[in-house]
Amino acid sequence: MKSATVAERPDLSDPAKELTSDLFPEYNNHGDILNRYWSRLTEERPDFQFHLLGDHDEILARARSLPVRWDGTLQDLPAGIDGAIARGFDEGGANVLCAMVIMVPRGLQGRGISVVALRAMGEIARQHGFAAMIAPVRPSWKDRYPLTAIEDYAGWRRSDGALFDPWMRVHERVGATMLRAEPRSLRITGTVAEWEKWTEMAFPVTGDFWFPGGLATVSINRDEDSGRYWEPNVWMRHIL
Ligand SMILES: CC(C)(COP(=O)(O)OP(=O)(O)OC[C@H]1O[C@@H](n2cnc3c(N)ncnc32)[C@H](O)[C@@H]1OP(=O)(O)O)[C@@H](O)C(=O)NCCC(=O)NCCS
Repeated sequence: MKSATVAERPDLSDPAKELTSDLFPEYNNHGDILNRYWSRLTEERPDFQFHLLGDHDEILARARSLPVRWDGTLQDLPAGIDGAIARGFDEGGANVLCAMVIMVPRGLQGRGISVVALRAMGEIARQHGFAAMIAPVRPSWKDRYPLTAIEDYAGWRRSDGALFDPWMRVHERVGATMLRAEPRSLRITGTVAEWEKWTEMAFPVTGDFWFPGGLATVSINRDEDSGRYWEPNVWMRHIL
């Protein structure tokens, strides 16, 4: 396995080679803040976006990250992934690398590729002189417990002491520590019709609803014709 940044291999950003576009539920593609900035990651920070490649240049993982300023305190953590991407582009003085996403194609999951990707991200951070990497981790199994507060879920452990959530567990296994839960990390707002399309569900009345793949509930207001959702994350830190 080798890693190549988008700066080194821009050809691999071709959407036709995209094997990871089906990894997130549709609603996740509509972040109010995130979508304003997302394309700038590859356009303006290509050194921090990379692919893991196999022997024949097949894509084993895609990763996105962004240098941000952070003073090392809990109080100064960005307001979730939305706050991190805004801070990374709108403020100077970046001193840590913030992980945005790691994606492993479905057919390749469960083989430990994400560990290699996380280490490769840490290596990129080190090469740029950063002493830490922070991650607003999207817990993989939180959609199974959408009614549980993220503050509680984040602390769940198995009987062997390992973290309950598989993706948080990977971060901890490679040395990360948990900083704090972030109940309001990614904001997604749409009309009722948009939410019905994204979730393939009907929302005939006003209220809070569970939906497939949601890490929390969506709040539907028929009078305002709106659906509001906050995706929870958990901040973790890797010392490099
Ligand atoms: C989260 C993700 C990056 C993990 O990548 P991966 O290469 O499959 O991870 P690993 O092989 O190291 O497995 C990590 C853990 O998840 C478990 N796991 C991985 N794939 C799984 C699957 N399809 N079903 C059940 N468990 C799975 C593994 O058992 C492992 O836990 P354990 O070794 O402690 O038992 C990958 O599943 C993915 O791309 N998911 C969709 C996108 C996403 O959610 N990214 C993370 C948010 S930024």
